[in-house]
Amino acid sequence: MSATGGDDKFEPLQPSSGFGADPLLEAWRHRLKALPSTKFAIRDATATAQDARRVWDLQVECSPIIPKPLRENVSMIVEKRVLLAFVDDVHVGFSVSFAGPRTIDPLFVQVVAVVLEARRRGVGIALLGVAAAGYPRRDIALATQLDNVAARTMNDRFAESIGASIRRVPLDNFANRDLGIRRGLGYRAWFIQHPPSQPPAPLPSQ
Ligand SMILES: CC(C)(COP(=O)(O)OP(=O)(O)OC[C@H]1O[C@@H](n2cnc3c(N)ncnc32)[C@H](O)[C@@H]1OP(=O)(O)O)[C@@H](O)C(=O)NCCC(=O)NCCS
Repeated sequence: MSATGGDDKFEPLQPSSGFGADPLLEAWRHRLKALPSTKFAIRDATATAQDARRVWDLQVECSPIIPKPLRENVSMIVEKRVLLAFVDDVHVGFSVSFAGPRTIDPLFVQVVAVVLEARRRGVGIALLGVAAAGYPRRDIALATQLDNVAARTMNDRFAESIGASIRRVPLDNFANRDLGIRRGLGYRAWFIQHPPSQPPAPLPSQ
């Protein structure tokens, strides 16, 4: 694992345990309430306690995402591609993706999540776009709960925007681990496929 900082870096950022208020979470929520309508920016998360905490805040705020301990979030940032979206310096969304080990494997997009206050301004589709741009030749596999209209519509719109098709595929086509899901929660798997590349047009005869 790359530099993650010692316990002294994590300690002040640890979420409050029990039912007590979490001052950092409350301060961030306060800033979300006054979020400006300015443009957003996206960057790769770093394997630091600070970004692990930002991801935790977003996991808490974006149901059905499940919050993980900060150390697990750091491991996730090291092992996968985690993107963070910001409005000014306020974190508003994140995504988690990774390319399967073989070149024929798809890019697995495990999470795209945006806080309520920043939705419907293109952040989710932009996170998908940046993740996909890292592997322009790969098809994309992802899972979405059947009743998650926002995510399903976003995925459809994204596929359309890159000229790809999207279709439902059996969950068994992929490992739950790769899709980042547990069974029995209503997930369905989707496959975003690039059109086959066209053969070069024949040269005009002389
Ligand atoms: C799904 C989610 C990431 C969308 O984020 P977002 O930033 O609001 O999405 P975008 O603004 O990029 O939307 C892109 C398109 O998706 C569609 N869309 C997004 N939210 C929608 C909604 N609530 N209802 C219908 N369509 C929706 C629209 O077509 C939208 O384009 P438009 O606003 O120009 O019409 C967000 O709702 C979310 O975080 N949900 C909770 C977490 C989650 O379920 N994540 C997905 C599974 S991991």
